[in-house]
Amino acid sequence: MKNKISDVSIQINSFEINNILQLEAFRIQFLGSKSEIKNLFGELKTVPNEDKKSIGKELNDLRIQAEEKYAEHKEKLENNTTSKEAIDYSKPGENFSVGSHHPISLVRREIIEIFNRIGFVVSEGPEIEDDWHNFSALNFPPEHPARDMQDTFFIEKGENEMALRTHTSSVQVRVMENQKPPIRTISPGRVYRNEAISARAHCFFHQVEGLYIDKNVSFADLKQTLLYFAKEMFGEKAQIRLRPSYFPFTEPSAEVDVSCSICNAKGCNVCKYTGWLEILGCGMVDPNVLEAAGIDSKTYTGYAFGMGIERITQLKYKVNDLRLYSENDVRFLKQFTPSI
Ligand code: PHE
Repeated sequence: MKNKISDVSIQINSFEINNILQLEAFRIQFLGSKSEIKNLFGELKTVPNEDKKSIGKELNDLRIQAEEKYAEHKEKLENNTTSKEAIDYSKPGENFSVGSHHPISLVRREIIEIFNRIGFVVSEGPEIEDDWHNFSALNFPPEHPARDMQDTFFIEKGENEMALRTHTSSVQVRVMENQKPPIRTISPGRVYRNEAISARAHCFFHQVEGLYIDKNVSFADLKQTLLYFAKEMFGEKAQIRLRPSYFPFTEPSAEVDVSCSICNAKGCNVCKYTGWLEILGCGMVDPNVLEAAGIDSKTYTGYAFGMGIERITQLKYKVNDLRLYSENDVRFLKQFTPSI
Protein backbone atom coordinates (compact mmCIF):
# COMPACT_ATOMS: atom_id res chain seq x y z
CA MET A 1 0.00 0.00 0.00
CA LYS A 2 2.75 2.43 0.93
CA ASN A 3 4.52 1.67 -2.33
CA LYS A 4 1.38 2.33 -4.32
CA ILE A 5 0.90 5.67 -2.54
CA SER A 6 4.42 6.80 -3.29
CA ASP A 7 4.05 5.65 -6.95
CA VAL A 8 0.94 7.78 -7.38
CA SER A 9 2.65 10.71 -5.67
CA ILE A 10 5.49 10.51 -8.20
CA GLN A 11 2.98 10.33 -11.05
CA ILE A 12 1.22 13.45 -9.76
CA ASN A 13 4.50 15.32 -9.58
CA SER A 14 5.64 14.41 -13.03
CA PHE A 15 2.29 14.90 -14.81
CA GLU A 16 2.67 17.74 -17.31
CA ILE A 17 -0.15 20.27 -17.52
CA ASN A 18 0.25 22.85 -20.26
CA ASN A 19 -3.27 23.24 -21.51
CA ILE A 20 -6.93 22.74 -20.63
CA LEU A 21 -7.02 19.23 -22.13
CA GLN A 22 -4.10 18.06 -20.00
CA LEU A 23 -5.69 19.66 -16.96
CA GLU A 24 -8.86 17.68 -17.53
CA ALA A 25 -6.89 14.44 -18.06
CA PHE A 26 -5.13 15.09 -14.74
CA ARG A 27 -8.45 15.60 -12.97
CA ILE A 28 -9.89 12.36 -14.35
CA GLN A 29 -6.77 10.35 -13.50
CA PHE A 30 -6.28 11.58 -9.95
CA LEU A 31 -9.50 13.26 -8.74
CA GLY A 32 -12.37 11.73 -10.70
CA SER A 33 -14.83 9.20 -9.30
CA LYS A 34 -12.80 6.33 -10.80
CA SER A 35 -9.43 7.84 -9.99
CA GLU A 36 -6.48 5.93 -8.60
CA ILE A 37 -6.72 7.79 -5.31
CA LYS A 38 -10.41 6.81 -4.94
CA ASN A 39 -9.40 3.18 -5.54
CA LEU A 40 -6.74 3.39 -2.85
CA PHE A 41 -9.28 4.76 -0.39
CA GLY A 42 -11.41 1.72 -1.24
CA GLU A 43 -8.52 -0.58 -0.45
CA LEU A 44 -8.14 1.00 2.99
CA LYS A 45 -10.51 -1.55 4.51
CA THR A 46 -8.04 -4.34 3.74
CA VAL A 47 -5.29 -2.60 5.73
CA PRO A 48 -4.64 -4.05 9.26
CA ASN A 49 -6.27 -1.95 11.97
CA GLU A 50 -3.05 -0.76 13.59
CA ASP A 51 -1.85 0.75 10.23
CA LYS A 52 -5.18 2.29 9.24
CA LYS A 53 -4.49 5.64 10.91
CA SER A 54 -1.09 6.32 9.36
CA ILE A 55 -2.01 5.01 5.89
CA GLY A 56 -5.25 6.98 6.02
CA LYS A 57 -3.26 10.14 6.71
CA GLU A 58 -0.88 9.41 3.82
CA LEU A 59 -3.81 8.91 1.50
CA ASN A 60 -5.34 12.21 2.60
CA ASP A 61 -2.03 13.98 1.93
CA LEU A 62 -1.91 12.37 -1.50
CA ARG A 63 -5.38 13.69 -2.33
CA ILE A 64 -4.42 17.16 -1.11
CA GLN A 65 -1.27 17.01 -3.28
CA ALA A 66 -3.42 16.25 -6.34
CA GLU A 67 -6.03 18.89 -5.47
CA GLU A 68 -3.42 21.57 -4.94
CA LYS A 69 -1.65 20.82 -8.20
CA TYR A 70 -4.99 20.87 -10.01
CA ALA A 71 -6.06 24.19 -8.48
CA GLU A 72 -2.70 25.81 -9.14
CA HIS A 73 -2.63 24.88 -12.85
CA LYS A 74 -6.26 25.71 -13.34
CA GLU A 75 -5.69 29.22 -12.11
CA LYS A 76 -2.58 29.61 -14.24
CA LEU A 77 -4.33 28.50 -17.42
CA GLU A 78 -7.36 30.67 -16.80
CA ASN A 79 -5.21 33.70 -16.15
CA ASN A 80 -3.26 33.10 -19.31
CA THR A 81 -6.28 33.33 -21.51
CA THR A 82 -8.28 36.01 -19.77
CA SER A 83 -5.98 38.40 -17.98
CA LYS A 84 -4.67 41.28 -20.06
CA GLU A 85 -1.51 41.51 -17.94
CA ALA A 86 -0.49 38.05 -19.09
CA ILE A 87 -0.17 39.16 -22.74
CA ASP A 88 3.36 40.13 -23.70
CA TYR A 89 2.98 42.96 -26.20
CA SER A 90 6.69 43.02 -26.97
CA LYS A 91 6.59 39.49 -28.40
CA PRO A 92 7.18 39.31 -32.17
CA GLY A 93 3.94 38.61 -34.05
CA GLU A 94 3.15 35.25 -35.48
CA ASN A 95 3.64 34.81 -39.23
CA PHE A 96 0.53 34.38 -41.31
CA SER A 97 0.26 33.32 -44.89
CA VAL A 98 -0.41 36.19 -47.31
CA GLY A 99 -1.22 33.77 -50.14
CA SER A 100 0.35 33.80 -53.57
CA HIS A 101 -0.38 35.12 -57.03
CA HIS A 102 -2.43 32.99 -59.37
CA PRO A 103 -0.22 31.69 -62.21
CA ILE A 104 -2.65 33.12 -64.79
CA SER A 105 -2.33 36.57 -63.17
CA LEU A 106 1.46 36.30 -63.15
CA VAL A 107 1.67 35.39 -66.81
CA ARG A 108 -0.96 37.91 -67.86
CA ARG A 109 1.04 40.60 -66.08
CA GLU A 110 4.24 39.45 -67.77
CA ILE A 111 2.67 39.46 -71.25
CA ILE A 112 1.28 42.96 -70.65
CA GLU A 113 4.70 44.19 -69.46
CA ILE A 114 6.40 42.80 -72.56
CA PHE A 115 4.00 44.58 -74.94
CA ASN A 116 3.94 47.76 -72.82
CA ARG A 117 7.66 48.09 -73.47
CA ILE A 118 7.03 48.46 -77.23
CA GLY A 119 4.15 50.88 -76.88
CA PHE A 120 1.02 48.69 -76.64
CA VAL A 121 -1.61 49.96 -74.22
CA VAL A 122 -4.21 47.80 -72.47
CA SER A 123 -7.85 48.03 -73.50
CA GLU A 124 -10.73 46.18 -71.89
CA GLY A 125 -14.31 45.45 -72.83
CA PRO A 126 -17.45 43.63 -71.67
CA GLU A 127 -17.56 39.85 -71.21
CA ILE A 128 -21.20 39.80 -72.37
CA GLU A 129 -21.10 40.86 -76.01
CA ASP A 130 -23.50 41.52 -78.84
CA ASP A 131 -23.29 39.66 -82.12
CA TRP A 132 -21.77 42.66 -83.91
CA HIS A 133 -18.64 42.97 -81.78
CA ASN A 134 -18.00 39.26 -81.32
CA PHE A 135 -18.79 38.10 -84.88
CA SER A 136 -20.27 40.36 -87.54
CA ALA A 137 -17.78 43.21 -87.38
CA LEU A 138 -15.05 40.60 -87.52
CA ASN A 139 -16.17 39.42 -90.94
CA PHE A 140 -18.18 36.39 -89.82
CA PRO A 141 -21.26 36.52 -92.14
CA PRO A 142 -24.47 35.26 -90.45
CA GLU A 143 -24.32 31.71 -91.76
CA HIS A 144 -20.57 31.49 -92.13
CA PRO A 145 -19.32 28.06 -91.06
CA ALA A 146 -16.46 29.75 -89.20
CA ARG A 147 -18.98 30.64 -86.49
CA ASP A 148 -19.03 26.97 -85.67
CA MET A 149 -15.35 27.12 -84.81
CA GLN A 150 -16.33 28.88 -81.62
CA ASP A 151 -19.04 27.16 -79.67
CA THR A 152 -20.82 30.04 -78.09
CA PHE A 153 -22.74 30.43 -74.83
CA PHE A 154 -25.75 32.48 -75.90
CA ILE A 155 -27.55 34.53 -73.28
CA GLU A 156 -30.25 35.84 -75.59
CA LYS A 157 -31.00 34.55 -79.07
CA GLY A 158 -32.81 36.36 -81.86
CA GLU A 159 -32.80 40.06 -82.62
CA ASN A 160 -30.98 41.25 -79.50
CA GLU A 161 -28.57 38.38 -79.53
CA MET A 162 -26.18 38.51 -76.59
CA ALA A 163 -23.47 35.98 -75.78
CA LEU A 164 -20.45 35.46 -73.58
CA ARG A 165 -17.55 36.65 -75.73
CA THR A 166 -15.64 33.83 -77.38
CA HIS A 167 -12.48 35.90 -77.87
CA THR A 168 -11.19 39.35 -76.93
CA SER A 169 -11.09 40.37 -80.61
CA SER A 170 -14.44 41.94 -79.66
CA VAL A 171 -12.57 44.51 -77.57
CA GLN A 172 -10.46 45.42 -80.59
CA VAL A 173 -13.58 46.17 -82.61
CA ARG A 174 -14.65 48.56 -79.85
CA VAL A 175 -11.22 50.24 -79.87
CA MET A 176 -11.27 50.64 -83.68
CA GLU A 177 -14.76 52.16 -83.50
CA ASN A 178 -13.73 54.68 -80.86
CA GLN A 179 -10.17 55.65 -81.73
CA LYS A 180 -8.37 56.94 -84.78
CA PRO A 181 -5.21 55.18 -85.99
CA PRO A 182 -2.42 54.81 -85.09
CA ILE A 183 -3.75 52.16 -82.73
CA ARG A 184 -1.48 49.92 -80.74
CA THR A 185 -3.37 47.95 -78.12
CA ILE A 186 -3.59 44.63 -76.32
CA SER A 187 -6.76 43.26 -74.77
CA PRO A 188 -6.35 40.75 -71.98
CA GLY A 189 -9.44 39.09 -70.62
CA ARG A 190 -11.56 36.08 -69.88
CA VAL A 191 -13.39 34.34 -72.71
CA TYR A 192 -15.97 31.56 -72.84
CA ARG A 193 -16.58 28.61 -75.14
CA ASN A 194 -19.09 25.85 -74.85
CA GLU A 195 -16.65 22.98 -74.58
CA ALA A 196 -16.56 19.88 -72.40
CA ILE A 197 -14.09 20.36 -69.55
CA SER A 198 -10.98 18.19 -69.78
CA ALA A 199 -7.25 18.45 -69.20
CA ARG A 200 -6.92 20.19 -72.57
CA ALA A 201 -10.13 22.24 -72.87
CA HIS A 202 -12.22 24.40 -70.58
CA CYS A 203 -15.43 26.37 -70.89
CA PHE A 204 -13.60 29.54 -69.86
CA PHE A 205 -10.03 30.65 -70.33
CA HIS A 206 -7.99 33.82 -70.81
CA GLN A 207 -6.60 35.54 -73.84
CA VAL A 208 -4.39 38.45 -74.75
CA GLU A 209 -5.06 39.77 -78.20
CA GLY A 210 -3.00 42.48 -79.89
CA LEU A 211 -3.84 44.99 -82.59
CA TYR A 212 -1.64 47.46 -84.46
CA ILE A 213 -3.05 49.78 -87.10
CA ASP A 214 -1.14 52.52 -88.87
CA LYS A 215 0.03 53.53 -92.32
CA ASN A 216 2.31 50.94 -93.96
CA VAL A 217 2.07 48.23 -91.31
CA SER A 218 3.37 45.03 -92.90
CA PHE A 219 3.54 41.33 -92.20
CA ALA A 220 7.26 41.77 -91.48
CA ASP A 221 6.32 44.08 -88.57
CA LEU A 222 4.02 41.39 -87.22
CA LYS A 223 6.66 38.68 -87.46
CA GLN A 224 9.31 40.79 -85.75
CA THR A 225 6.93 41.78 -82.94
CA LEU A 226 6.09 38.14 -82.28
CA LEU A 227 9.76 37.11 -82.34
CA TYR A 228 10.48 39.85 -79.80
CA PHE A 229 7.63 38.55 -77.64
CA ALA A 230 8.84 34.93 -77.82
CA LYS A 231 12.38 35.90 -76.80
CA GLU A 232 11.17 38.06 -73.91
CA MET A 233 8.82 35.35 -72.70
CA PHE A 234 10.79 32.17 -73.27
CA GLY A 235 14.40 33.37 -73.40
CA GLU A 236 16.93 34.71 -75.90
CA LYS A 237 17.26 31.33 -77.66
CA ALA A 238 13.56 31.16 -78.56
CA GLN A 239 12.72 30.87 -82.25
CA ILE A 240 9.35 31.14 -83.99
CA ARG A 241 7.87 29.66 -87.14
CA LEU A 242 4.71 30.69 -88.94
CA ARG A 243 2.31 28.27 -90.60
CA PRO A 244 -0.44 29.46 -92.98
CA SER A 245 -3.87 29.35 -91.35
CA TYR A 246 -7.35 30.83 -91.57
CA PHE A 247 -9.31 33.33 -89.50
CA PRO A 248 -12.28 35.31 -90.89
CA PHE A 249 -10.86 38.59 -89.59
CA THR A 250 -7.30 38.36 -90.94
CA GLU A 251 -5.85 37.82 -94.40
CA PRO A 252 -3.30 36.36 -94.73
CA SER A 253 -3.45 34.44 -91.44
CA ALA A 254 -0.92 32.29 -89.65
CA GLU A 255 -0.46 30.13 -86.62
CA VAL A 256 2.74 30.64 -84.71
CA ASP A 257 4.89 27.98 -83.08
CA VAL A 258 7.69 28.67 -80.62
CA SER A 259 10.70 26.40 -80.26
CA CYS A 260 10.18 24.08 -77.30
CA SER A 261 11.89 25.63 -74.28
CA ILE A 262 11.50 22.44 -72.26
CA CYS A 263 13.83 20.29 -74.43
CA ASN A 264 15.64 23.13 -76.28
CA ALA A 265 13.86 22.03 -79.46
CA LYS A 266 15.51 18.60 -79.32
CA GLY A 267 12.14 16.84 -79.03
CA CYS A 268 10.23 15.75 -75.92
CA ASN A 269 6.77 14.53 -75.01
CA VAL A 270 5.48 18.08 -74.43
CA CYS A 271 6.29 19.14 -78.03
CA LYS A 272 5.44 15.63 -79.25
CA TYR A 273 9.03 15.22 -80.51
CA THR A 274 8.63 18.03 -83.07
CA GLY A 275 10.66 20.68 -81.22
CA TRP A 276 7.79 23.19 -81.75
CA LEU A 277 4.78 24.31 -79.72
CA GLU A 278 1.81 26.27 -81.04
CA ILE A 279 1.26 29.48 -79.07
CA LEU A 280 -0.91 31.89 -81.04
CA GLY A 281 -2.90 32.90 -84.10
CA CYS A 282 -2.24 36.07 -86.11
CA GLY A 283 -2.57 37.84 -89.42
CA MET A 284 -3.07 41.10 -91.29
CA VAL A 285 -6.41 42.69 -90.37
CA ASP A 286 -8.88 42.00 -93.18
CA PRO A 287 -9.84 45.27 -94.98
CA ASN A 288 -13.52 44.37 -94.37
CA VAL A 289 -12.88 44.51 -90.62
CA LEU A 290 -11.24 47.94 -90.87
CA GLU A 291 -14.13 49.27 -92.97
CA ALA A 292 -16.76 47.79 -90.61
CA ALA A 293 -15.18 49.76 -87.77
CA GLY A 294 -15.01 52.96 -89.83
CA ILE A 295 -11.30 52.92 -90.68
CA ASP A 296 -10.23 53.69 -94.24
CA SER A 297 -8.62 50.48 -95.50
CA LYS A 298 -6.94 52.29 -98.41
CA THR A 299 -4.91 54.46 -96.04
CA TYR A 300 -4.37 52.07 -93.16
CA THR A 301 -3.22 48.50 -92.69
CA GLY A 302 -2.80 46.54 -89.49
CA TYR A 303 -1.94 43.28 -87.89
CA ALA A 304 -3.62 41.32 -85.09
CA PHE A 305 -2.66 38.38 -82.97
CA GLY A 306 -4.26 36.42 -80.15
CA MET A 307 -2.91 33.98 -77.61
CA GLY A 308 -4.26 31.92 -74.73
CA ILE A 309 -2.74 32.81 -71.36
CA GLU A 310 -3.31 29.24 -70.07
CA ARG A 311 -1.25 27.89 -72.97
CA ILE A 312 1.68 30.23 -72.31
CA THR A 313 1.46 29.43 -68.58
CA GLN A 314 1.47 25.73 -69.35
CA LEU A 315 4.71 26.11 -71.27
CA LYS A 316 6.33 28.41 -68.76
CA TYR A 317 5.41 26.44 -65.64
CA LYS A 318 4.89 22.98 -67.16
CA VAL A 319 1.28 22.70 -66.01
CA ASN A 320 -0.34 19.91 -67.99
CA ASP A 321 -3.97 20.06 -66.84
CA LEU A 322 -6.13 23.13 -67.53
CA ARG A 323 -8.52 22.26 -64.72
CA LEU A 324 -5.88 23.00 -62.08
CA TYR A 325 -6.21 26.73 -62.79
CA SER A 326 -9.76 26.93 -61.51
CA GLU A 327 -9.91 24.33 -58.75
CA ASN A 328 -8.52 26.65 -56.05
CA ASP A 329 -6.29 23.95 -54.58
CA VAL A 330 -3.83 25.85 -52.42
CA ARG A 331 -1.22 23.11 -52.82
CA PHE A 332 -1.14 24.00 -56.52
CA LEU A 333 -1.50 27.76 -56.11
CA LYS A 334 1.20 28.34 -53.51
CA GLN A 335 3.93 27.06 -55.83
CA PHE A 336 3.99 30.23 -57.90
CA THR A 337 6.09 33.28 -57.17
CA PRO A 338 6.30 36.35 -59.34
CA SER A 339 9.30 36.66 -61.63
CA ILE A 340 8.67 40.37 -62.27
N1 PHE B 1 -9.42 35.54 -82.05
C1 PHE B 1 -8.67 34.34 -82.39
C2 PHE B 1 -9.09 33.23 -81.44
O1 PHE B 1 -9.70 33.47 -80.46
C3 PHE B 1 -7.18 34.57 -82.27
C4 PHE B 1 -6.65 35.54 -83.26
C5 PHE B 1 -6.59 36.89 -82.96
C6 PHE B 1 -6.22 35.12 -84.51
C7 PHE B 1 -6.10 37.79 -83.89
C8 PHE B 1 -5.73 36.01 -85.43
C9 PHE B 1 -5.68 37.34 -85.12
O2 PHE B 1 -8.82 32.09 -81.69
